[in-house]
Parts: sequence; C-alpha cells; structure tokens
Amino acid sequence: MTVLVTGGAGYIGAHVVRLLMERGDHVVVVDDLSTGVAEHVTGAALVHLDLSLQEAVDKLEALLSEYAVEAVIHIAAKKQVGESAERPAWYYRQNVGGFANLLQAMQNAHVDQLMFSSSAATYGNPDLPPGQLLTEDTPAMPISPYGETKLVCEWMMRAATRAWGLRGVGLRYFNVAGAGWPELGDPAVMNLIPIVLEALTNGRQPIVFGNDYPTPDGTCIRDYIHVLDLAEAHLMALDYLAQDDRPHDLFNVGTGTGSSVLEVLKQLAASTGYDIRPEFAARRAGDPAALVADVSRIHTALGWRAAHDLADMTDSAWASWAPVHGQPAVPPAS
Ligand code: UFG
Repeated sequence: MTVLVTGGAGYIGAHVVRLLMERGDHVVVVDDLSTGVAEHVTGAALVHLDLSLQEAVDKLEALLSEYAVEAVIHIAAKKQVGESAERPAWYYRQNVGGFANLLQAMQNAHVDQLMFSSSAATYGNPDLPPGQLLTEDTPAMPISPYGETKLVCEWMMRAATRAWGLRGVGLRYFNVAGAGWPELGDPAVMNLIPIVLEALTNGRQPIVFGNDYPTPDGTCIRDYIHVLDLAEAHLMALDYLAQDDRPHDLFNVGTGTGSSVLEVLKQLAASTGYDIRPEFAARRAGDPAALVADVSRIHTALGWRAAHDLADMTDSAWASWAPVHGQPAVPPAS
C-alpha cells in the first residue's frame, strides 16, 4: 500500500519507513527536517514541509492525491518535555495545529486510515500502588504541555472518527531506546541512554536524579522499548486499521517490564565495557517513581509483543553511538 509518514526522517520515523519499504509498501515522507536527517530516508520520496503552517493543508491534500496515499502514519511532533513547559503556545501550534492541518487534508482527500504517535506522557504522574502497571484505562492526566498536546491529538483523532469516519489508532510510546541499524541511532541527546553515552564521551560520569524513590534500588523505573519493536508495532497497527472490527483505538507500546536507572547504567557498562560510577543528585522535578506499561491489550488485539530486551537496546545504542562520537574518555573497566 502507499503510506505517507510524517516525521519519517526522525529517529523513530526512519525506522518505520525502513520497515515499510522492506515489506514492499510505497512510502512518502513529510518532514520539516528540524531534527530529522534527510539522508536517513533512502528510497522514499521526501517532502520538506512544516505541518503547522496554514498552507500545509493544501500542500498535504495535493500530496495525498498525487501519490494516491491510502494511510498516514503521523509521527512528526515536538517532543521535549522541558522545552514544552517553556514554550507552551509553540508546542500547541506545532503538535495540535500541525495535526489539525493533517486531519483536514486527509478529510479533503478522502484518506481515512491514520496511525497517530502518542506517548506515555499522557498519563502524567499517576498515583498507582507500587508494582501496578499502566493500562490504557488509567486516567490520562498529563503534567507537561507536551503530554497535553498528545492527549488533545488523541481526542481530535476520536472526534474525526465520529465526524467523518476516520479509522484511527494511537500508540502510546513508553521510553524508546536503541537502534535497528547503526546509522539510525537517536541523534538527539535528550534521554537517559544518549545522555550517559555523551557524559562518558566527554570524560564525565553520569548523574542519577534521585536514589530515594520507593523502588528496590531507590532510582526511577521506566519501561524501555527497542525502537525496532516500536516500529514493528506501527506496521501491525496499520494492518489493524484495515479490519472492520476494531474494539480499541489506543495501545500502550512497552515491554511490560521496568528497569531502574541503575539497571540501565549496569547494562550500559556491560555493552560499552566502561566503568560507570554514577554520581547521585536530587530528584528531577516531575519524575514519577515508576512507569511501566500493561501491554496485554496490544498483544491481544494486534498480536504484537516486544522481541528485544534492555541489553539489545544498550548494545545497539552503543553500536550506533561510538562510530559517530568516538570512544568515551572515561577509562574502560579493568
Ligand atoms: N535520568 C537520570 N539522569 C539523566 C537523565 C535521566 O537519572 O541524566 C533518569 C530520569 O530521572 C528518569 C529516567 O532516567 O527517571 C528516564 O529519563 P528520560 O529523560 O530518558 O525519560 P522520561 O521517562 O523522563 O521521559 C521519556 C520521554 C517522554 C515520554 C516518557 C514516557 O522523554 O517523552 O519517556 O515514559 F513521555
């Protein structure tokens, strides 16, 4: 089929595009290239466009018709929690405004299949008993403008479903890590694993934010999901959209297993061979103690399950990092 992927030049999008092309789909990528890398899109048409601009509706509508697009995977978005708190209006304009333009273009061009990239940030800081997993029915109460924009987009998708028959599905990503191909590693240094690798590269030890959480080792627990597993979930979500019987329109995408910050560092030490002795700092504002996905819904409805573990994530993150950034200056473990 022919699929338009917004944000297809980005870290996650490039993995999705590659898998789609491997299975023989035709792909058109739309990306503003603000963080995406054009060279990561090989073999697909790449259209440089900021979705939030007013003229984007007409341009997208023309593209959808020209390429006879049957489904859209909408990944393009701004995704930095801290930045969203500083520039909320811009985040709303980019994420919500851009999505409004895309939905309008889809309606105009009669393209009725949409997979939307949402986030576990929609849950906010849930008050769950220790060990309780997050289901899609856990109330969504985002605590950042970023999380709010993702929740609003879920509502917009649902409203379009009711209004004109859009077939929509949203994936709520947990903590995405690793690389499916060494050249497609995360180019941004915004999340734990790249931050640690950058610290090591610069001869610093990583900093752990808080070791007094109510978790077994005192550090925060997250559900880390390999980007290749996540990309695979996008393809299965597209297949799901083709079914008439679709009991759900939102799915968590995680492994169902949590890892603490110290467990991630231990795994990174094993992958890199470097001696990691973190420094401990105060808690980071807004960090929940534990966020782990209940993934039973996506397994039952889509037949999807993560195939990669934390070691695969740290190994592949390291394999994609070292050739670009060089060997860490911190001495290897003896
Ligand atoms: N952390 C450290 N030291 C660092 C960086 C991070 O200890 O230098 C800790 C954080 O405190 C947190 C964990 O590592 O406990 C993971 O932090 P990240 O910043 O990598 O990720 P977050 O869990 O804060 O957020 C990520 C994405 C969000 C998404 C969320 C879903 O950035 O967009 O996962 O769970 F919504």
